[in-house]
Amino acid sequence: MPLPAPPPPAALRAALRHGTDDLHMRLDAGIGPLTTKAEYLAYLQGSFAFRAAIEPALHAAAEAAGWAPIRLAPTIAEDLATLGLARPRPVTAPALEGLPAIAGALYVLEGSALGGVLIARRAAALGYGPDSGAAHLHRQTARPGRWRAFLAWMEGHDLDPRPSVAAARTVFGVALLAYGQAPDPAGPRSKPKANGT
Ligand code: HEM
Repeated sequence: MPLPAPPPPAALRAALRHGTDDLHMRLDAGIGPLTTKAEYLAYLQGSFAFRAAIEPALHAAAEAAGWAPIRLAPTIAEDLATLGLARPRPVTAPALEGLPAIAGALYVLEGSALGGVLIARRAAALGYGPDSGAAHLHRQTARPGRWRAFLAWMEGHDLDPRPSVAAARTVFGVALLAYGQAPDPAGPRSKPKANGT
């Protein structure tokens, strides 16, 4: 009997991972180790500014394409209220058109739940649990099989990686802005000042 065909290589995920890991590292470093309450509160505010911008921009198109992302912004808003913090203004969301771009953007949202496991542990060590300011982390990480299901959905579409990686980088840029970091290391905030200024 012939052996079953091997599963297709996870080419798109690899392209997305390698195409965005510089931005992920910058985001992670900017958010910090979350060893203080102030760091966690800043993380919560950044998460709201990010998710409240990107979720409405993505939701309808993602559902039409067959993947329903978790709407986390309302739960983050509850966490902010629990901790007596105001909701920050959402950053500006980019236009995301076409399945490759939608998939690349979803990769960033779904992948963030992987780091969410670690972040939930750090938040718990600071005293933030499901009823005390970290409900969104518990929602985000409640289904460990979700990531595999997402990858199967994404890899099942035979998408061009270039627009996917471009969209994922755009969405990481939105996250960098939302968490208060310069979106581009060569961007305006880090350019040397002109002579005489
Ligand atoms: C302090 C903040 C963060 C930490 C410590 C962190 C950490 C991690 C870790 C450890 C993983 C790999 C998990 C595994 O392979 O099991 C991961 C994956 C990922 N994270 Fe983060 N993360 C952080 C914030 C974020 C944010 C804010 C986003 C998006 C806005 C994000 C997007 C991703 C993505 C897309 C992946 C999947 C990469 C892959 O293809 O394997 N992360 N993160």
